[in-house]
Amino acid sequence: MLKKIVIAIDGFSSCGKSTLAKSLAAKLEYVFIDTGAMYRAIALFFLRNGVSFTNEAEIKEALQKINLRFEYNPSTEKSDMILNGENVEILIREMQVSSKVSEVAAIGAVRDFAVAQQQAMGVEKGIVMDGRDIGTVVFPNAALKIFVTADPQVRANRRLLELKATNPTITLQEVAENLQHRDLIDSTREHSPLKKADDALVLDNTNLDRAAQFEIALNWAKERIARG
Ligand code: DC
Repeated sequence: MLKKIVIAIDGFSSCGKSTLAKSLAAKLEYVFIDTGAMYRAIALFFLRNGVSFTNEAEIKEALQKINLRFEYNPSTEKSDMILNGENVEILIREMQVSSKVSEVAAIGAVRDFAVAQQQAMGVEKGIVMDGRDIGTVVFPNAALKIFVTADPQVRANRRLLELKATNPTITLQEVAENLQHRDLIDSTREHSPLKKADDALVLDNTNLDRAAQFEIALNWAKERIARG
């Protein structure tokens, strides 16, 4: 039996982290965890219930009412986000949530709530977790940390293609502005800002297709697993 490791994948929004994490997990027979979905579900709950983003008591009370879990969906071969028993996988990807999620993810109490659950999911190892602070805060001892980057223009175009499927009127400018806004908040916030862990390997996929990027990451993973 090969030793199981924790693989932490961090990087800016729409860099293809989830796609990479998902295919790595499938190949290694590991569990894939998309931590962004957790912040998105919390943001959805806050928006629906009019929770103030600045009132700490209100935030803490709201968090006590939130139950998050992932449920495997065979048709997409990934896990859907379940918020208090409701499948919110589609809703949490919509613009209303995307435009507010960075503000919610910057709240200290929200991060403590999500990080505790993420750490519990990794106790048995054998996971690929993607997010912004996985290699720096959630699993600082992860055996493999990958920091994914890509040119902002390329990222905006990729994201536009994805969003067009459900929102045909969306423009490149709207998408680019949302990405810029999220990157800025994610990397300048006080609590666990997005930054490359010192020991993370950088994967710039501006000029790489999915297969090429997967090959690189898989080789890194094999090498770290073999190290034992
Ligand atoms: O990866 P994503 O776009 O679904 O993430 C949604 C938001 O949550 C994004 O603004 C960054 C934030 N996030 C975070 O702060 N920490 C994580 N581990 C994952 C996501």
